[in-house]
Amino acid sequence: MTAESAILRMPAGFLWGVATAAHQNEGRNRNNQWAAWEQQPGRIHAGQQSGRATDWWSPGTIAEDFDRAAALGLNSLRLSVEWSRIEPEAGVFDQSALRKYAEIIRLLRDRGLEPMVTLHHFTDPLWLTEMGGWENPRVEELFNRFVGRVVDALGDQVSLWCTINEPIVYAVSGYLDGDFPPGARSLPRAVAVLRRMLLAHGRAYRTIHRLQRGARVGLAHHMRLHRPANPSRPADRWAAATMNQIANTSTLAAITEGRLTPLVGLGQRVTHLIDTSDFIGLNYYTTILTAFAPHRPTSFLAHTFFDPHAEFSDFNPNGEPYGIIDPAGLYLALKTVARYGKPIYITENGVPDAEDRLRGRFIATHLAETWRAIQEGADVRGYYHWTLVDNFEWAAAWALKFGLYALDLETGSRTARPSATVYAQIARTNGVPLALLETVAPGYVVPSA
Ligand code: FCB
Repeated sequence: MTAESAILRMPAGFLWGVATAAHQNEGRNRNNQWAAWEQQPGRIHAGQQSGRATDWWSPGTIAEDFDRAAALGLNSLRLSVEWSRIEPEAGVFDQSALRKYAEIIRLLRDRGLEPMVTLHHFTDPLWLTEMGGWENPRVEELFNRFVGRVVDALGDQVSLWCTINEPIVYAVSGYLDGDFPPGARSLPRAVAVLRRMLLAHGRAYRTIHRLQRGARVGLAHHMRLHRPANPSRPADRWAAATMNQIANTSTLAAITEGRLTPLVGLGQRVTHLIDTSDFIGLNYYTTILTAFAPHRPTSFLAHTFFDPHAEFSDFNPNGEPYGIIDPAGLYLALKTVARYGKPIYITENGVPDAEDRLRGRFIATHLAETWRAIQEGADVRGYYHWTLVDNFEWAAAWALKFGLYALDLETGSRTARPSATVYAQIARTNGVPLALLETVAPGYVVPSA
């Protein structure tokens, strides 16, 4: 075998990054709905708060972390801007916050890290929450105004934009499952919020393009693929397909074909949503088994559970599993996304793994499966590992550790986990060396392309 064929090589120009988000990293965010939620007893694991987070609002700390990303051989980094800092009161824009973000982007560029900027990553300014947040139809116009200001301020340095992170997770966790603010449990409210976010994405897409020639704009879509519990059972296949349609492909159809599924839009085709994805951002963590359950009409006749025979990552602090390790699920997710004919960035992929027993293997095998999808025609342009340094993991607070670097919450010091070296080797090679794969995932069968 030649040296070249001993590498599962990614296309030239592939972006290797880590993904992060403002509220999870900056610290001292006090003016958004998550900060308020963290104050409420019983909402967050062990009463913890985001607090200083990874202290990225301090210029020294963020620069050092960007040094770490660059030292790993990465060439990109995904971060989000915090709406409540930029627009602390409705219609009042804080120029110093915008300047600070411009400096942060400059720090990235100075280190050869291409920025991917997310405009909404789960947090809303309190003034918006007080108006009803994403249930108030005015949010579309308000978000659009905010987006315009950010593009004006950062557009000379940023061309890769993510409008909204995971509309489906924001809507379901906040309005159906009740784990995120505002803690509601109502399907109609969740559906209304999801619909509003998709429509806002379409407007933001057009605004960014109006302001910036050459912008590349997409949305980061969370895809937890449903696999049939028993693939030979037609009813399970039907249940999995239905759930995939509701949770996964409905968003993709909206932001490419402008088609809103019956659930969110009575089958409407929305003109301003048609073709509003220069790329599709895929956030992939795990898959879930789905069985037909006739006695569960309120759960779309589906019973979902993690494959008990699979390997599990760290558990949520409430004792529930976070997910299973399923690299082939990423291949399937990429194949699904590829059907929409757009370039793809894997905008998040990672694993809660405090002891780093899984992460090196997780990274190498998920990238091997990415390579397989690319061989079969998926136009994957980059991979962002979630995340660089352990950060504030929403309702699970500090209990789930996703970092390539461990964070000591007391001292703020960072320690590289061994898997950081695995990712660095892959990024520097622009592919997965088979020898590395064999070391970190012995016996793993390289998927044939
Ligand atoms: C995703 C979120 C991200 C992070 C990871 C673990 O759903 O987008 O903020 O919490 O999960």
